[in-house]
Order: sequence, then C-alpha cells, then structure tokens
Amino acid sequence: MRKVTALILAGGEGRRMAADVPKQFLSLGGVPVISHSVKAFELSDKVSDIVIVCHQDHLSLMERVISDTHSQKTKVIVEGGETRQSSSFIGLKNCPSGTEYVLIHDSARPFLRLEMIDDLLHAVKETGAACPAEDVSDTIAEVKRGLILEVVPKREDLKKIQTPQVFSYDVIVKAHEEAVKKGITSASDDCGLVLVSGGKVAVVKGQPGNLKITSKFDLKLAEFIFSLE
Ligand code: CTP
Ligand code: MG
Repeated sequence: MRKVTALILAGGEGRRMAADVPKQFLSLGGVPVISHSVKAFELSDKVSDIVIVCHQDHLSLMERVISDTHSQKTKVIVEGGETRQSSSFIGLKNCPSGTEYVLIHDSARPFLRLEMIDDLLHAVKETGAACPAEDVSDTIAEVKRGLILEVVPKREDLKKIQTPQVFSYDVIVKAHEEAVKKGITSASDDCGLVLVSGGKVAVVKGQPGNLKITSKFDLKLAEFIFSLE
C-alpha cells in the first residue's frame, strides 16, 4: 500500500481571530478545532501517519490536545516557522521515511470529509499534485485605494482553493526547495509552489462546508455547520 502522511499546519497564531489562544485550539462542538481534522485522518484507512507543525509557544498544549484526541497516528509534533510556507517545509522534512504522498492541511479547517481524501488520492496519481476547488459565486474585482481597478472576467473559471492539498512527496519537496532558491517566502498555499516549479495541479470538487476559520464570525458559522452534521 502507498504510504500517505497527513501534515497538519498549526504553526500560526490566529492574529485575525485575536483570541487568547490560536484558533486551532478554540472549542468547536466541545473539542479543539484541530481535533476534528486529526479525527478525520485517524478514520481514513488511506492515511498511516500524522505530522503536526505547531507554534513554539503552544507545543505542550498541542501535546495535551493530541493525547485527549486519542490519536494513534500522530508520530511527530514539530515547531513551526515564521510563515505558513516555512511551517509547511519544516513539516515535510519531518515526514516519516517512505512517505510517498503527503496531504497538507490547515488546522483551521475542521470539516474535511473522507470522500475528499479519497478523491484527492485518486487525482494525484496523474499529476503529482491535487487540491479541492470550490466555485466562486460573487463577482471578483481588484480594488486599490477604495476604487475598483478591474472586474475580473470569466467568473466561471475562478475557484476558491481549499485544503487538504495532496502531493507526491518528491514533487512538493522539490517545489519548496526551488521556491526558497527563488526568494519566495510567503506563499499562502503549497499548490502555488508546484506551479512555480513547473508542475501541474489537478482539482477535485471542493465542499462548500470545508470552511477555513479565520474570524469570530467564522467560528460561529462553524458551530452552525457542526450542529448540522
Ligand atoms: N500556519 C502555520 N505556520 C505559520 C502560519 C500559519 O502553520 N507560520 C498555519 C495556521 O496555523 C493555519 C494555516 O496555516 O492552520 C492557514 O493560515 P491562517 O488561516 O492564515 O492562520 P493564522 O496564520 O494562524 O491566522 P492569521 O493569519 O489570522 O494570524
Ligand atoms: Mg496567516
């Protein structure tokens, strides 16, 4: 069987949420936000290992949370970097040896589904990289100094990119190495780095409920989504 590692990024501080602890530790449905993702990867029979990247100030809290979540697959909890990109690269370097595919996931997205993991692991075989993408329903415009510069045409071609994003391990490590050489340091996701290194990224259908919690309003929305599940 292919060895698949889930890499959960929790090295951020949740500045926009401005709570007492980073948003991945806030309670959602009675457990910390990150526990929902850990449980999903625990349930997937495709995933053998979990690696968590955590902010240095919260390593002991994370260890407690992972123990309370009864995670059998979490083998490594490692200190993150200054940016999401550097946290991701650190996590990749700490994946267990023999990892063939890695699912990189934001700890702030608690609602990933097992079918999505399966769809991604199917799509990645062709391209070496795949991510979930959701349609955009609003009109998108570029705005500067309070004025619209341009309304982006062809809304039907625009997508919102979610996580988890899945990669052949060698493809994503090479993409990170090349990004560093090119001076790219603050990419907001990993797929973009694969494109910069000349690779292709397949998309699978994202879920509207696969919300990334950023603000206090998002947390309320997440409670509502949780109540529907
Ligand atoms: N992340 C990380 N290391 C960083 C920054 C972000 O691992 N140095 C992780 C976050 O923990 C989060 C994911 O990347 O799960 C997406 O980032 P974002 O939503 O921006 O989270 P934060 O950076 O924590 O939030 P903010 O930007 O509001 O400070
Ligand atoms: Mg951030």
